[in-house]
Amino acid sequence: MKFFIDTANLKDIQDANDLGILDGVTTNPSLMAKEGITGQENILNHYRAICKIVDGPVSAEVISTEFHGMIEEGEKLAALHPNIVVKIPMILEGIKAIKYFSAKGIKTNCTLVFSAGQALLAAKAGATYISPFLGRLDDVSTNGLDLIAQIRLIYDNYMFDTQILAASVRHPMHIINCAEIGSDVMTGPLSAIKALANHPLTDLGLKQFLADHAKGNK
Ligand code: E4P
Repeated sequence: MKFFIDTANLKDIQDANDLGILDGVTTNPSLMAKEGITGQENILNHYRAICKIVDGPVSAEVISTEFHGMIEEGEKLAALHPNIVVKIPMILEGIKAIKYFSAKGIKTNCTLVFSAGQALLAAKAGATYISPFLGRLDDVSTNGLDLIAQIRLIYDNYMFDTQILAASVRHPMHIINCAEIGSDVMTGPLSAIKALANHPLTDLGLKQFLADHAKGNK
């Protein structure tokens, strides 16, 4: 399973990249705003900065909600760097835009996916990735993992090339469950990625090894 980091924070992106396990980055307008990145030029420069750190797909989201606006914005974003993936919302105008970009060989990430029907539509339009929002489904008492499993089954039935990018990941168990189901990619915060490394028995064991070594080497 590929690991993407879900942030626009350059330090977190650098830290995750330094671990050597990072495959890509996802951003969204809220994450950009959280970092104080506003204005078109600053936003474009920020994507350039992310692409300098990570050698992998970087999702950059369009703001337009109608076909022509999405095309204009998406082409500008795609021209920034070969690793840019144009992130497009799961609305009917977005489906048309995904089809357009797919025909032009420009990679897309269909975002705000909350149902299997939406995932099917995006795959038929040729989306490179679809982003089902795990955590936000959990937030409304709906099992987000069930949706990932349902989409996995549908895509496997018809051998769709579209990759499932489990998004809105909140904690390490989400990552493990996504890996069990066979999600192609997960995107989560640095905290969830780092938490995978934690185990008290590892800490205890290491402490003991170091203490024993120190005793024997006095
Ligand atoms: C990623 O592509 C999504 O924009 C993101 O995972 C949403 O996460 P959130 O529900 O934590 O805001």
